[in-house]
Amino acid sequence: MSATTEIGSTDSDDAGNAGDPGMTVRMTVNGQSHARHIDPRRTLSDFLRKDCGTTGVHLGCEHGVCGACTVLLDGRTARSCCTLAAQADGADVTTVEGLADGPELNPLQEAFWKHHGLQCGFCTPGFLIVIQELLAENPDPTDEEIREGISGNICRCTGYQFIVDAVRDAAAILRGEQPSAASGSDH
Ligand code: FES
Ligand code: FES
Repeated sequence: MSATTEIGSTDSDDAGNAGDPGMTVRMTVNGQSHARHIDPRRTLSDFLRKDCGTTGVHLGCEHGVCGACTVLLDGRTARSCCTLAAQADGADVTTVEGLADGPELNPLQEAFWKHHGLQCGFCTPGFLIVIQELLAENPDPTDEEIREGISGNICRCTGYQFIVDAVRDAAAILRGEQPSAASGSDH
């Protein structure tokens, strides 16, 4: 993806005031370049949602607890509600919108669907991003390692077992193996 979107104007609610002229932040979001003049206090989550249109970045607690706002910042997970857009200046950002290949879900998204790893779906973008990092670092995690990996994200609906099942399944597919028949959610 090489398209560039240059967003040069300043939001009225985020413009720097007379004593604070603001700053210009540039970053690549899901392969597309963005630039905008912002208030230096603008969070990365607001930048992504309001300036880049990536509203798959969900805001739950807005103080670093729930993980719904998690994105990949230069390949590492970051809570965008607790990160300033200025801190991401020059970074390569991946949000949940960047996981699928057009209409094609990636194996992890497919596994969430198959195993009912979501219900309301509010937490799902954060889980998917965290698990992307987990599987990149550990392609064959144990259930305990999966649970440890997702322990910083809160879901109010699924009870987590279905998410663990989905991760186990996706990991096997990404390794080129058949998904395990042993699954707590396959009834
Ligand atoms: S909204 Fe960022 S951690 Fe909850
Ligand atoms: S699916 Fe509803 S909060 Fe996780």
